[in-house]
Amino acid sequence: MTTDRLMALDLLVSVLTVAAWVSAGVAAAARRTRTAAALFAVALVASLVRVWSVLALAGAGWWFVQEKITLALPLLVVAGAVATALAGPRLLRAARRADAVSGDALRAPAVVVPLLGAGYAAAAGIVQTFLIGYPADPGTALLLLAVAAGAVLGTWRAMSTHVPGLRTATAATAVATVLGATLAFVPLSEETTAEGSAPGGAAAMGAMGSTSHAHSAAGDSGAEESASGLAGATRAVTDLRGPAAPPPGGTVRRFELTARTATVTLSSGRKVSAWTFNGQVPGPPLTAEEGDLVEVRLRNADITSGVTLHWHGYDVPSGEDGVPGLTQEAVPPGGEFVYRFVAAQTGTYWYHTHEVSDLGVRMGLYGTLVVTPKGTAATGLDLTLPVHTFGGVTVTGDRDQPLVRQAAPGTPVRLRLINTDNTPHRFTLGGTPYRLVAVDGTDLNGPGTLGRAGLRLAAGGRYDLAFTMPSGPALLRVDDRTDSVRLMPASGPPGAGEDTAAAGASATATTDPGAVPSADSPTADWPELDVTRYGTPAPTPFTSRNHFDRDFTLVLDRGFALTNGRPMYAHTVNGHAFPDIPTEVVGEGDLVRLTVVNRGRDTHPWHLHGHRVLVLSRDGRSVTGSPLWLDTFDVRPGEVWEVAFRAGNPGLWMNHCHNLSHADLGMMLHLAYAGVTTPFHGAHSG
Ligand code: C2O
Ligand code: CU
Repeated sequence: MTTDRLMALDLLVSVLTVAAWVSAGVAAAARRTRTAAALFAVALVASLVRVWSVLALAGAGWWFVQEKITLALPLLVVAGAVATALAGPRLLRAARRADAVSGDALRAPAVVVPLLGAGYAAAAGIVQTFLIGYPADPGTALLLLAVAAGAVLGTWRAMSTHVPGLRTATAATAVATVLGATLAFVPLSEETTAEGSAPGGAAAMGAMGSTSHAHSAAGDSGAEESASGLAGATRAVTDLRGPAAPPPGGTVRRFELTARTATVTLSSGRKVSAWTFNGQVPGPPLTAEEGDLVEVRLRNADITSGVTLHWHGYDVPSGEDGVPGLTQEAVPPGGEFVYRFVAAQTGTYWYHTHEVSDLGVRMGLYGTLVVTPKGTAATGLDLTLPVHTFGGVTVTGDRDQPLVRQAAPGTPVRLRLINTDNTPHRFTLGGTPYRLVAVDGTDLNGPGTLGRAGLRLAAGGRYDLAFTMPSGPALLRVDDRTDSVRLMPASGPPGAGEDTAAAGASATATTDPGAVPSADSPTADWPELDVTRYGTPAPTPFTSRNHFDRDFTLVLDRGFALTNGRPMYAHTVNGHAFPDIPTEVVGEGDLVRLTVVNRGRDTHPWHLHGHRVLVLSRDGRSVTGSPLWLDTFDVRPGEVWEVAFRAGNPGLWMNHCHNLSHADLGMMLHLAYAGVTTPFHGAHSG
């Protein structure tokens, strides 16, 4: 069974357990002898199954059961045992006789209270899992114990005038409540103070002494011993900028992007009120050749919340990374900022605002960045296809209708798919065999031919598909329902692509029969491609057998936490929300491993700025296909991803969920190189 299924099963069993214990208590109180006995039996069995489901889940990793094994299970076992010992014999006796006298005996507090108490105890476990999440700490555990004890006392008191030691028990419960709440919600430790009380996480990051504490608080091994450390010169992130001139042989590519609100007309005539760059959505496509210097002047006309440019997947110098409050201040209306970086990586990337990015990107502040290898003249048809949702409609580029293009059979075609949304999209390509040649801008090694494949693209991620134009039509579809791009065979010299967008016509498929599905065949049942098994292995600069200088684990969950000072039902990392998640501190040259665990019900597309990470394993299974270098990887419920990178781009970096609404609810943190400081004090960074 998958971890996700086990988590769901465990949840189901735990709810059943609560229901069975509570209803057994209620039935006893109502003198329903037989029902009470039967429900008691169900509760016992459910409790045993719960023990099993937790132990089975433990097989997926300690992260998935920490709070269950330390709190929920002991509580359930003790309360269940007490209920069985106290209420069990009477229930059995009463059920055997089933007369009025025995029914009355069941109403005794000695029967009802333990049964309900077991229910309260079982419920405390669920509350811990759902409201507080990972990890269970002594404070929240104490608090939950106190609440459960209080409920038992309350029930007992309601049933009988005499509760032995009521005063003492009430006092003890009250003390436990206060103590638990204090431990849980008042930041006492030096570590928390260092990050939590500063004007923002970013400001705290300026003082490396405190981040080092914060880091060790995360419980990660390897940090203290690492040679790279706190000693050495400090540098400001504002000094880590791109060069003023391109390297020899490169040219300067200048772009101007002005952020402003505008009403944009989509291809169908539908109007969208959007936040735009230069009045268009997506923003102007930026292209460069490897080795060029890209210079982008960002202006803000009227986006009142401010705007920045972040180069998603592009490992620019930290000072060019566009994170407000960390690498620059957000550009206010009337302001400007000039970004410069060398186009060292080739491939498909995108840019977007990083100020109130959940809203900003959703409203349209994004565009594409494509860098082609040096000296390769463009041949064939090369389409860059950012996919975005506006008001529930899937839009490819600026079109909410299929883009129809003609290409002569034999023309090389490249489709650059970019997911600019918060959730994954599933792409299918029919009518032609093809290869997935690059993921997140990096070429795959030996990618094989694909036919009926569903390509699940993480939020923020990119896939490059390549094929030779067939003699029939080819169709790119999104989420098995929206026709995105239809390529029609044209006569004429290969490469003469002509825009026939107005047509929108659907042609009859004429591809040769065989493994290749016709352009219009239904796609919903095409199996999902597992990119960790696709392509051919190749040597990588490091593997999971390496020694890692830094080892960080991020357990993703939900729970109540302070997010920018407000209590929220947050998306948490190791039980905290931004800016209270300890910063990960690395030294230049460190080999760093990140283990990302998802114990929640949502998918989290994890994105580290400034670095591509090599995937080592997913759910304990190594990558068996091409090496996978990603900047965004989808951590689905129950999954554990192990990735690694060499810390070769000094700076201060965001490390966050690219479902930007999750990031907004706390799921982001900083990765800082020791010795790099920031003069900015903003707390949002998102
Ligand atoms: Cu594409 Cu921090 O984001
Ligand atoms: Cu997320």
